[in-house]
Amino acid sequence: MTAEGDLLQYRLVAIPGDGVGPDVVAAAKRVMAAAGARFGFGVEWHDILVGGAGIDAYGMPIRPDDLAACAVSDAVLLGAVGGPKWDDPTAAVRPEQALFAMRGGLGLFANLRPVSVHPALVPASPLRPELLDGVDMLIVRELTGGLYFGERSEAAGPAGARAAHDVLPYSEPEIARVARLAFELARGRRKRLTSVDKANVLATSRLWRTVVHEIAVEYPDVALDDRLVDACAMQIVRAPASFDVLVTENLFGDILSDEASVLAGSLGMLPSASVGSRRTAHGLHGLYEPIHGSAPDIAGRDLANPIGTILSVAMLLRWSLGRADAADAVEGAVSDALDAGYRTGDIWPRSAAAADACTRVGTVAMTDAIVARVGAGAGSAAAPPDAGTPMVEPPVDDLDVGTTVATAQLPGLL
Ligand code: IPM
Ligand code: MG
Repeated sequence: MTAEGDLLQYRLVAIPGDGVGPDVVAAAKRVMAAAGARFGFGVEWHDILVGGAGIDAYGMPIRPDDLAACAVSDAVLLGAVGGPKWDDPTAAVRPEQALFAMRGGLGLFANLRPVSVHPALVPASPLRPELLDGVDMLIVRELTGGLYFGERSEAAGPAGARAAHDVLPYSEPEIARVARLAFELARGRRKRLTSVDKANVLATSRLWRTVVHEIAVEYPDVALDDRLVDACAMQIVRAPASFDVLVTENLFGDILSDEASVLAGSLGMLPSASVGSRRTAHGLHGLYEPIHGSAPDIAGRDLANPIGTILSVAMLLRWSLGRADAADAVEGAVSDALDAGYRTGDIWPRSAAAADACTRVGTVAMTDAIVARVGAGAGSAAAPPDAGTPMVEPPVDDLDVGTTVATAQLPGLL
């Protein structure tokens, strides 16, 4: 066997998808290669056509074989799916159906969206700087239930009297498993959990609240509070630093996480992980993607911010591959590139004074800056923690979920 043959190889599925998806996935692969070169592992990528690309190639958003390939991989990295070409809301086949097939088919019941604000990006946020101080929240969105998966009927009836409906179902086990995950994550962070519902109106929200409170008894060290979703939406922009972990149902989580992303300066900055209960040889199986969409207007023009996808690679390394070393290095490299002043258009400072110290770059040059820093071993997070670093080392065979997600341990209950 050759030396290369001895190298640990991870098997990852890449879904470049549509719009800017291929731009940012190409960037993420370069970062993964740099991390592998530095930390001594290889990655075998299996690219599949999914979303609009799948519809164009095969007439369906995801083929069963491709879903099966995702299921047997160590993890899946996705760029974005969708675009105006496939946007007809009356079409029977739509790119987003691939997302639901993967979430449901792979059992990815929790979507984790960490939101923190890099100090260098405060000038890019529309919020006042003093509101952003200390923002570090983790939104845990239930991903395989509720309105997205409930029974529905499309509009029917005579013009002027058409009607449609979407059913919002939740069962106790569906609520309990995502609530437990959220409690575990809160336990590894600042030990505060906000459960978001609309219990003053919805029966499912009342069940949600009841189940979450029953489970809270198992976590006496975690402070739980409830927020109605409308009040929570307001608090996210009025006092964003007041949150630690939020847990909520599918549609509320979809909406609140887009709102929260504004805090970070741009949708382009934020990663996400969708996980369930299946473990692989290395960690938890999952699907990782930036939270931005396919942005077709800037696709293929070297304009997309690759950082959301690159930080998704860091989450993938940490959660699915058990490579905290490489994940720290990637996060450190992103942070250093921002500190060095590299900015894509979406995170360009709003004030001329702040802009003076920055260099405007495209997708490729931003990736170059990050790859160089991964390879060079730069980055405070990549260096051995000094005495002042408030970082708790997780037990060797546990995984934590990122510096922004601090020392959270993956729960043994999964
Ligand atoms: C997301 C997206 C999707 C969702 C869309 C594209 C269907 O907004 O991942 O947040 O609503 O879940
Ligand atoms: Mg969304």
